[in-house]
Amino acid sequence: MSSVSATLFRPGPLRGTLRVAPDKSISHRALLLGSLTRGTLTVTNLNEGADLQATRQAVRQLGARIEGDGTNVVLHAPEELLAPGTIDCLNSGTTMRLLMGMLSGASLAARLVGDASLSRRPMERVARPLREAGAAISTTDGHAPVDLAPHRGLRAVVHHLAVPSAQVKSALLLAALVAGQPARITGDERSRDHTERMLRYLGAEISWNGERIELEPSWLHPRDVEVPGDPSAAAFAVVGALVTPGSEVRIERLCLNPTRDGLFRALRAMGANLEILDAREVAGEPVGDVVARSSALRAIDLDPALLPTMIDEVPALAVAAAYARGTTRIRNAAELRVKESDRLETVAAMLEAAGVSVRRLSDGLDVVGTEQLVPRIDVVTHGDHRIAMAAAALAAGSPAGVHVDDAACARVSYPRFHEAWESLQR
Ligand code: S3P
Repeated sequence: MSSVSATLFRPGPLRGTLRVAPDKSISHRALLLGSLTRGTLTVTNLNEGADLQATRQAVRQLGARIEGDGTNVVLHAPEELLAPGTIDCLNSGTTMRLLMGMLSGASLAARLVGDASLSRRPMERVARPLREAGAAISTTDGHAPVDLAPHRGLRAVVHHLAVPSAQVKSALLLAALVAGQPARITGDERSRDHTERMLRYLGAEISWNGERIELEPSWLHPRDVEVPGDPSAAAFAVVGALVTPGSEVRIERLCLNPTRDGLFRALRAMGANLEILDAREVAGEPVGDVVARSSALRAIDLDPALLPTMIDEVPALAVAAAYARGTTRIRNAAELRVKESDRLETVAAMLEAAGVSVRRLSDGLDVVGTEQLVPRIDVVTHGDHRIAMAAAALAAGSPAGVHVDDAACARVSYPRFHEAWESLQR
């Protein structure tokens, strides 16, 4: 157990309207791609979590100037990227991996470090293709610290993704863009396409179809970006509402990008009462409101093709499965073992602590829906923000709530999570 005092998430229905934390992935890209525009742009509704603090500090070290400390900022991109020295990426895989690409493209010396969890995550999946394209990049036994050195210039980036990872493809796209080279990337299988969308929004010549991505040498032009709400943050309130009788939650201005909405599709297949309202497009991203009402859920065999579009939502889906009738089978999810925690393990342990029967597989879980959770539930987050928030959703429908060892780790992506949750349970 950590030394942080335990938090009790209470049982009880969720009711009300909410704007969840701004999308973390789009926020990283707004700062990183914005820093390549050589101009000035405004970013509104920027995520303020700890991961984004790492990216803010990183772009400052690259020469960008950011005015405003809060959620609305003016970003002045540098004329040219500066050698940043050592960048601390904290807990943020997106910061580290996208920077590996940008810095390789710019042929700059740098050292990228992170916290204990980030230092356990695989970095060769990004370093290797960059090295093949000519970058001077080395990892520490496959992990951070990652060291970059100036080199003789990148060649065109041609790569087939071994795992459908948005971070890997984004790193490669940024490397090619900064180096003024084309990129051809295959094997994507519909991982989140925010980098592609923002590149196009900022004027790059890029095409993609869910399998193959083609980027031509391009310049970016500054344009203001408004970040929508994060579907990965909304997942917990949506599931909490579905599994708790008497709930109705409306989440406003949510990113509804089809590479991010796999959880909503899966929940609908489980019988969830979910409604989308006011669908529109903002800064190149589909946006809308989602209304979730308490529903009697039934188990599903999760369509493995949905996994890349709900890679961060499996903890939320597993909570829904704990309350569903029957056994939900989740497969094709081996990537969860190398997230901020081994999420197949931490999710299984969370549900077992609640009296739910779980079978672990190397690439997934079977979750047996349970009529009544146990009265005393203790969850260990292992510092993983998504486990802390999943525990809140689990608590909503439980008999006596859930005790969480380190609920504060939600600040990685959602600093105001606790206030938001309380506002729904008032
Ligand atoms: C992200 C991509 C995903 C996701 C992570 C954010 C991104 O990681 O899990 O939280 O912003 O590109 P992978 O690319 O490793 O699947």
